[in-house]
Amino acid sequence: MSQIEIKKIIKALKSSDGAGVKLKRSIGTPEADYIDPFLMLDEFGSENKDDYLAGFPPHPHRGIETVTYMLNGEFEHEDSTGSKGKMGPGDVQWMKTGRGIIHSEMPAMTGGKLLGFQLWINMPAIMKKNKPEYLYMKGKDLGVHLDNEKKVKVIAGKFEKAKGPLTTHNVEPIYFHIVLNEGKEFKFDIPEGHNAFIYLLQGELNIGEKKHDKTHDSSLILLERGNKLIAKAIKKSEFLLIAGKPIGEPIARGGPFVMNTKAEILEAIQDYNNGTFAKY
Ligand code: FE2
Repeated sequence: MSQIEIKKIIKALKSSDGAGVKLKRSIGTPEADYIDPFLMLDEFGSENKDDYLAGFPPHPHRGIETVTYMLNGEFEHEDSTGSKGKMGPGDVQWMKTGRGIIHSEMPAMTGGKLLGFQLWINMPAIMKKNKPEYLYMKGKDLGVHLDNEKKVKVIAGKFEKAKGPLTTHNVEPIYFHIVLNEGKEFKFDIPEGHNAFIYLLQGELNIGEKKHDKTHDSSLILLERGNKLIAKAIKKSEFLLIAGKPIGEPIARGGPFVMNTKAEILEAIQDYNNGTFAKY
């Protein structure tokens, strides 16, 4: 068993998306373009309603999965498959866009604090042609492990006896939301060959055996391959641990579309402009 060390600590970049919603992007940036199979990670939110009220009006996607995890606030979702749903604190929306979906995500709140995450997972070429699928996971259906030292909410994968709602998935994802008390350790075995990272929302962590730079709030901690993860909380810490099996295919990005080649991106843009996108 080799202990996992830190590869790189990256501060999330301030950005905006949709109709100007403020966010901090950590994957999908020049420093961390693609952590196969993860294409993007955004922490979105603000205490100021003017930063999020315009929401994410209708827009298309193709070739990816988007996983939205709400911590605070309420958003309403609507898409071209006819799915509709209101997301509240603790809820997860897992959308497999396949060959195409058009959706909107608009605030169902008029004020207060908004906080959430959106993760993009790549799909292998063969699955980019699939019909879109929309999975809605209520917060109360997520597995939770609780002891005197930590709380682990399982969005995907398994921690001790707590399991996420997904039973099978091609990248065998692990997605935990962890709150670890000061001075305590979080230990977990990452499956061989998975790429893994921690997103530190707040607190300070020590990871592995080697000395490393101080970790900061809203930073992405890329992990070396290995299997034994030991993270110690220098201060009480709240973080996400995300890992998945790499897909290993070339990628071509075109905004909300991620395909294998440039030609496929042009095709997606043409389909959208012709009005043939997401019509089955
Ligand atoms: Fe979207």
